[in-house]
Formats: sequence, C-alpha cells, structure tokens
Amino acid sequence: MNSRSILLSLALIAVACGQAPQKKSNVPVYLDDAQPLEARVEDAFSKMTLDEKIAMVHAQSKFSSPGVPRLGIPEVWCTDGPHGIRAEVLWDEWDQAGWTNDSITAFPALSGLAATWDRELSRLYGKSIGEEARYRNKTVLLGPGVNIYRFPLNGRNFEYMGEDPYLAGEMVVPYVEGVQSNGVAVCVKHYALNNSEVNRHTANTIVDDRTLYEIYLPAFKAAVQKGHAWSIMAAYNLYNNEHLCSNEILLDKILRGEWGFDGVVISDWGGVHNTLQTAKHGVDLEYGSWTDGLTMGKTNAYDSYYLATAYKDAILKGEIGTEELDARVKRLLRLIFRTSMDRNRPFGSQTSPEHYAAARKIGAESIVLLKNDGVLPMENPKKILVVGENAVKMMTVGGGSSSLKAKLEVSPLDGIKARYPEAEVIWERGYVGDVGGEYNGVSTGQDLQESRSAAALVADAVKAAEGADYVIFVGGLNKSNEQDCEGLDRIQYGLPYGQDAVIEALAAATDKLVVVNISGNAVAMPWVEKVPAIVQDWYLGTQAGHSLADVLSGDVNPSGHLPFSIPVSYDKNPVQTEAQYPGILRDGTIDGMPVLDMEYTEGIYVGYRWYDLHGGVLFPFGYGLSYTTFEYGEPGINRKSMAQDGTVTVTVPVRNSGSVAGAEVVQLYIADVEASVDRPVKELKGFAKVFLEPGQTADVRFTIDREALSFFDAEKHGWVAEKGLFRALVAASAQDIRGTVEFELK
Ligand code: BGC
Repeated sequence: MNSRSILLSLALIAVACGQAPQKKSNVPVYLDDAQPLEARVEDAFSKMTLDEKIAMVHAQSKFSSPGVPRLGIPEVWCTDGPHGIRAEVLWDEWDQAGWTNDSITAFPALSGLAATWDRELSRLYGKSIGEEARYRNKTVLLGPGVNIYRFPLNGRNFEYMGEDPYLAGEMVVPYVEGVQSNGVAVCVKHYALNNSEVNRHTANTIVDDRTLYEIYLPAFKAAVQKGHAWSIMAAYNLYNNEHLCSNEILLDKILRGEWGFDGVVISDWGGVHNTLQTAKHGVDLEYGSWTDGLTMGKTNAYDSYYLATAYKDAILKGEIGTEELDARVKRLLRLIFRTSMDRNRPFGSQTSPEHYAAARKIGAESIVLLKNDGVLPMENPKKILVVGENAVKMMTVGGGSSSLKAKLEVSPLDGIKARYPEAEVIWERGYVGDVGGEYNGVSTGQDLQESRSAAALVADAVKAAEGADYVIFVGGLNKSNEQDCEGLDRIQYGLPYGQDAVIEALAAATDKLVVVNISGNAVAMPWVEKVPAIVQDWYLGTQAGHSLADVLSGDVNPSGHLPFSIPVSYDKNPVQTEAQYPGILRDGTIDGMPVLDMEYTEGIYVGYRWYDLHGGVLFPFGYGLSYTTFEYGEPGINRKSMAQDGTVTVTVPVRNSGSVAGAEVVQLYIADVEASVDRPVKELKGFAKVFLEPGQTADVRFTIDREALSFFDAEKHGWVAEKGLFRALVAASAQDIRGTVEFELK
C-alpha cells in the first residue's frame, strides 16, 4: 500500500465511523463570512504592512479612503447626508463631477422628521435613505445629525432633531437601524457640542459635566448604545481646550470608554489639526484636511495629512507606538466587514416610488398646524392666491454639505395646483429673498430675478387677493447664507426680506389667510394675532409641495408637533450674552489657531427647560393642532411607589372627540418634586403617537424606570435617582398638561 492509498483508507474508515473528512478551506479567514467578525478582523490585520495601515487612516480623495488593494479589501466611500445622497464630486474638488446618474430622492430635513414624533417613520426614513446610499455603493452615510437645538440662530438646526435629548435620542435610533439594515454605516454627527456655526473651528465650549451628560450627549449615546451606530463624526469645535477630532475626554474617555463604542470615528472635513494628539486620542479616519490652515490647501495633499506621512514618521522615530494605529485599523476593518464586505447585504434602490411615497408621508406628518381659526382645511376653493418666494423656490439646493441634486422637487405652488386641478391657482411673489440657486456646481436652473420694487410686490399681492377664496402665504427662511445654512448663523430672529410687511398687508386684505413658514428654526411672528391660520413647514425635499397640499386640503390630518420652542422674541431665549454666543476671544492659540471661549452658562436650562422658568413662549415644545380634537381621561398609575430597580406604569385614555380621523402625540414629562439639586420643572421621558378614528379611544401606556428619574451627579460621575416624590405629567405639549399622577421612589 502506498501512502496515497493509506490516506484514502483512513478517510474511508473515518467516514465509516461517521466523521466527514476534514476539508481544508483555501479561503483565508478574513474572507470567510462563516467566521466570527473579530476573527476576520484579526486575520486581515495580521496580513497588513505598516504602509497599508497608515494609508487606511486618512483620505485619498474628498470622500474616500483606501482599503487594502493587495488583499481585496475595499475602499471606504462616504457621502453626505443627512437628507439625501449628495451628488458625486470630483476626486479632489468640492464641485460636482457632472455624473448624470446621481439624482436622488430628497427626504425631509431632520427637523421635520423630529416633528413627526414617530419612531416608525424614522425607521422608514433610515431604511429608504440607506437604500439610496447602498444603490450608489456608499459605505458610510454622513448623518444623521443630533446636535441639540440650543438657540434659534444656529444655521444648521434644520439638520438636527430639536431641543430635547430624549426626543432626539428616541428618533435617532430607528434611523440608525434603518440605514444600517442596508449594510451602509451611519456617521452620527457632529460629536459633540457643535451647536452654532459661527467660529465653528475656533469656539471652545465651556460646559459643566451635568449639562454635558444630561443635554448634549444622550442622543449620541442612544445612537451608539441602542442603535449600534457603526461610525460617528467628531465635530470641528473645541471642548476642554482641545479640538474635538483629538479630544481625549469626549473620544477616548466617554465614547470609547464609558459607552464601549467599537466603530469608527471620522473627522469632520478639515477638523484635524495635529498629528500626535490625534494619533493618541483622536479620530480613526482623517478627511478634508488642508495642509496650511483651514482655508488654503494644495491639490492632492493626502500624503500631507496629519495621519499620513507625519504619522508614519512619528512611529518610526519612536515618538508614538503602534498600539493606537493598530486599534484604529481594526476599527476600520470592522466597519468594512460590516458594510462592503457583507455579502448578504441588499442591493438598494434609488428614486423608487416607495422612496417618493416615504418622503411624502414623512413630510405630511411633520407639518405642524400652529393656529387655525377655522380656515383650514381648504374646502372647495375656486380661486387660490399663493404668495411668496418659498412657494416656488427649490430648496434642495443650498444649505451647505446637505445640498442635494434631487431628481424631482415639487414646489408648494405645484403641489397646491396638482391637488386642485379645477381651481384657479395664481401666484404672486410678494417679496424678493434669495435669487441664487447654485451650490458646488448643482444648479436649480430657476431664474428668480425680479424687477418690481418691494412696495409694488406687496401691492400686486394685495390686489390679487381680491376674490380669492384662500390666500396662502409661503415664506420663511431659505438655504442661503445667514439663513438655514451651514458655515454661518442667522443674523436676525425675525423673518428676512420684509416678509412681515407682506403678511400684515395680506392679513388686512383677507380673512382667509394661511401663513406657511418654511424653516428649520423658530422665527418671530409679530402678526400672530392678525393671521387666522399658521402652519410650520420644513424643507421637505422631493415631495415638499405634495406633503403641504396633503395637509392644507385635509387629505392628511396634521399631526406634527414642534421639536423646539418658539419664543415670542429673541430676547426670551436662554442664550443672551456674548460669552454664551459667539464667545469671547482669549489670548493665545490652540493648534496654531485663535480660540473663543463660549460658555454654556444656561446649563441644563435649554429649550422648554428654560421657558418653563422664565416664560416668553409663543408656541411651546411639543405643540401641534389637528383638524380633530382629542380628550384625555384621568391618568392612572399601577402603583404608588417604585423600587430603585423597578418601574411604574402610567396609563391614560385618549379619545378622538372630533369628526375626522387623526393622530395625537401624547407626551409624558417627569417632575422631580423633592430633589437635593436644581432640576428642571419637568423633562420629557416618554411619548406615543396614536392614530384614532372619530370616537375611538386608546389607552396610552408609559413605563417609567429609574433612568427617567435620574440626574447626572457630576461629583459621583454617575446617574442618580433620589428617593422621594415624583410627578408624571401627561401632556399634549410642554404647556398643555392634561393630567398628573404622583409616585414615590423608595
Ligand atoms: C460638514 C459635515 C459634512 C462634511 C462633508 C463638513 O463641512 O460639517 O457635516 O458631512 O463637511 O461634506
């Protein structure tokens, strides 16, 4: 018997004994998706050279970074985010590449998504935008944004989810899950304390620990711990005198340490400013750097990035070890295995009817009816006058990095025309706002030039109102500089472009006026008493006009509720002093740049937490009307005292007492009655959106646990729920409490 036949006989004996012959796989562990993720990461890592590792941790183009070509490990491709997939840009330029297959669905801005107060719509949003990202072969979607709405001038509030950490935290989780179900990573941004745009590279936030943990971190934490976000974006600003992209406390101690984040931290574009500190504590992946400050740069400077040649040299010189690089590379490999090397991920789709339907539904459910003296819904209109630039202006272009190249954008005017084909629908401009329509080479193609004077525009609008059954004014802000736009903040709380005068003139001319404010921020409404109906609309993208017409017509009963408070005037909001915003220039530099200290002295009193104490609210957080009415019964509680590890359940019957079907957002706030520290009057700790037919009642149930009762004790560095009396407030808004029950924490 030769050796071959001996082996064969042994194999036959093994089969006879019930053991299959061990087939040795030729597939390396890292390519074998039957292997555990961590084993694959370790295996790929063990095969990599120092140069390959260094290449992975910084960009190779505006939006991509290398994989390991030799091993067949794909590149990472990022895309903005967060409302649609950005048009392809040139390799090393911000300008668009001129592709003809990159027109997408523009979904509603996130301020609108938050206004739905509907977790399932957030999941639908995430799933849909994730499918578009997947179709375009993106690894990472740069969004969602969850920075807290601290004050109404922040140019990027439209990209975020409102003023309350609980609402933002609840809404972000299903978005993350929806996107990532496509094998596309989210990149939750901008971590953290990036609550204004002016001086965003040089503002050093001074904030106490309690405020940090209670207000500014919870939504990020929820995205990481509950949503299992695969990446997060470090912001531009500074905290504790360090830029966020190399921030030891926020990145190492809290994100990776306390929260156990195992994903990738990506720098905001141009947010890295040094090699050693970033190498030790900072981002895993560096994007968008310039080599000589933030305004100048040389072409294809990728080797000059802080985490490129300089990083390798520092390692070779022994200034820093390889431990941090190794961890970085493993996190990147993990991201790639979770996304582009997941053979089972779906294929995605773009501009599908399902995505248009999702955008329309989310849009319609986000619109907030602020006032209605019986004007809406519109009934059998024969003649509708629509006034205002925002009725026709394409809003998907502009606003900064969230600017989009939408395949379709239905304007409010077109949406109203489509809904009322029989009616005479006419448009008057009313005012001139922003006549531009271009961003990084994407153009709306609209010509909005106007030769009439402001007075003539108002006079023409008033004249056209004669005989109109309804006058719909569509104005607000737009996506140009110093409006709702990245890079700068708003410079006034009031409506720009003389819109107040147009509204006043129309209010005097008709009692059928509806003011539709399109914005991502609160605006002053000095005409509030003179106008019979006010609608808060958002940048709703592709289906904007249809969503609005759905609500104005009553095809959809409005159910949006404000994700932020609207103060009467700017001087009522918590941010008042120069030290709070835009900060005070101090001596010296950090990373070679000047620094402004911005003190969050309002502390935890942000949004309704502030207005509850100081008043000054025109429309409160959580507020929103419907075409029906809802009656709340007495709330009940299942027990009067709660153990430290227990829960109590509050139940409230809510009845649709009107004549049309509709959805109510039932809110639960908690008040800590006996506390050793200052606590807000109340804090949102639960909400449910319930859809009810006329006459139908639902028992809405909230489970309250210890977490809902806790505050962050900075000295103990932990969450504390103190024993004593608590109140659970069932409410229709932060100022409309419908019932209260008390319980004690033992
Ligand atoms: C923005 C980010 C964006 C990035 C890439 C930055 O200016 O702050 O939100 O994702 O650019 O476009």
